[in-house]
Amino acid sequence: MDIQRSVYIKTFGCQMNERDSEVITQLLVENGYVETASIESADLVILNTCSIRAKAAQKAMSLVGQLRKQKRQQSQLKICVAGCVAQHEGEELRRRMNHIDLVIGTQNIYQIGELLDRVDQGEKITAVDMVDAYRIPAFLPNCDTGANTASSKFVTIMQGCNNFCAYCVVPYTRGREVSRSVSDIVDEVKVLLDSGVSEITLLGQNVNSYGQTNSVTSDGSPFSFAQLLERVAMLSGLRRLRFTTSNPKDLSLELMQCFRDIPQLCPQFHLPVQAGSDKVLRRMNRKYSISKYLDLVAGLRSYRPDIALTTDVIVGFPGETEQDFQATMDILETVRYHGSFSFKYSDRPGTAAENFSDKVPEEQKKERLMRFQKRQNEISLERNREYIGTIMELLVEQISETSIKGRTVTNHIVHVDQKDSSLQPGDFISAKIYHAGQHSLKGEMVENT
Ligand code: SAH
Ligand code: SF4
Ligand code: F3S
Repeated sequence: MDIQRSVYIKTFGCQMNERDSEVITQLLVENGYVETASIESADLVILNTCSIRAKAAQKAMSLVGQLRKQKRQQSQLKICVAGCVAQHEGEELRRRMNHIDLVIGTQNIYQIGELLDRVDQGEKITAVDMVDAYRIPAFLPNCDTGANTASSKFVTIMQGCNNFCAYCVVPYTRGREVSRSVSDIVDEVKVLLDSGVSEITLLGQNVNSYGQTNSVTSDGSPFSFAQLLERVAMLSGLRRLRFTTSNPKDLSLELMQCFRDIPQLCPQFHLPVQAGSDKVLRRMNRKYSISKYLDLVAGLRSYRPDIALTTDVIVGFPGETEQDFQATMDILETVRYHGSFSFKYSDRPGTAAENFSDKVPEEQKKERLMRFQKRQNEISLERNREYIGTIMELLVEQISETSIKGRTVTNHIVHVDQKDSSLQPGDFISAKIYHAGQHSLKGEMVENT
C-alpha cells in the first residue's frame, strides 16, 4: 500500500478561490492525500493565487519563491500554483520559476488528480486551457472530510465574468461567464444542509446575471437568480441565505423584492459602487450612473428597511480628479454604508485601464484612500451604535475560554462574553448588544425568545 502523502494548501483572494480550494482538497483526499497545516512537512504544496491587484499577486509569488529553498532540501516536494495568477501567467510562470511542478488554471482544477499522477512520473505541467464553452462539472461535497465541518458554507453558482470593467483582471483569469445548472446547485446545497450546515452563501462574480449566458434547466426554460434564491430557500434546514457579488447594472426589481418575500434571505447586501463620479464610472465601464445606483439603494431599503449595505471602492482610478474623488466621499454620506472595502487603483496587465495615460500618482492615491477609510470608519461606528440595546440572533462561529463569536443576519460579528459550556459552533443564540466598535459589536446572551 502507498504511504499517505500530505498536502498543504494556501488560499489567497476571494471566496471563489476558497471554494476552489475546498474542491481541490476534497479531490486530493479522495486520491489518498491527507491535509496538513505545516508547509515544512508537506509532500505537496498548493498555492491558490489571486491576481486582483499587483500586491495580491506579489504576495503569492513571493511564497512560491521561498519554496525554492525548501525544494532544494526536500527533493520529493511537489509545488503546484493554482488560481488566478496561474491562469493569467501560465507557462511564463514556470519559465520564471522552474521549481514549480504544476501550474493549473481556474477551469482545470477538476483534473488535478490525473495531472498530479503525471507530475509523479516526473513531468512538469502547465494546464491552463480556457474555453468559452466551459461547464462546471457536477460536484458533491464530501461532508466526512475534515474540510467540511463549518455551519456556514459557500456554493459556487457561476464562474467567470463578461463585464470587462476597465480595471479588472477577472474576465481574463476566470474566463467567460458560465452558470451551473439549478439541479447541480440544489443537490449540493441539500448535501450541505443534511450534514448540519444552516447558512449558505451563493457565489459568483455577478450573481444577478445567473442563467443568462447558458441554459440552467433540463428543458431549457429561463430561470433567474431571484428564482434560484426562492428554490434554495425552500430546502429544509436552511436558516440563512446570502449571496455575493452583484454588479449594480444587473440588479433587478425581482431580486430586490426577494428581500421582502424570502424570510431566510439575510438583510445584507454587498453592492460595489467603485466610484462616486459618473465620469469615472463611465471610464471604468461600469454601465450605471450614480443616480441609478441611488435608486437601487432606495429600492432595497423600501423592501427591507433594516438591510445592511456594504460596498467596494477604488480610489485613484486613471483620470480621477479631486472633484471626482469628492463625489466618492459624497456617496459615503448619502448611503452611509455599514462597511466598505476600499483599494488604491492597481494596474493589471491586459486590462483596458492599463493603457490609460492619465494615471494618478501613488502619493495622491494613498492620501485619498486614507481620507476615505477614516470617514468610513466613523460611519461604521455610528451605524454599529444603532444596534446598541437591540436583541440580535447570532450563529455561533467560534467559542474560546472567555468568549463566543457569532454572526448576525446583517453580517456583523458579535463577541459575547457569557460562557455557556454546552454551546457549540453552529448553534443559534440571542444577544443583547451593549457595545459597538468599528468592526464588531459586543453583546450579552439572553434567553432565546
Ligand atoms: N465581481 C465583483 C468584484 C470582484 S473584485 C464586482 O463586480 O463587484 C473585488 C474588488 O476588487 C472590486 O469590487 C474592486 O473594488 C477591486 N478591484 C478590482 N480590480 C482592481 C484593481 N485593478 N485595482 C484596485 N482594486 C481593484
Ligand atoms: Fe471584475 Fe467588473 Fe466582472 Fe466584477 S463585474 S468581476 S469588477 S469585470
Ligand atoms: Fe482574486 Fe481571482 Fe478572486 S483575481 S479576487 S482570486 S477571482
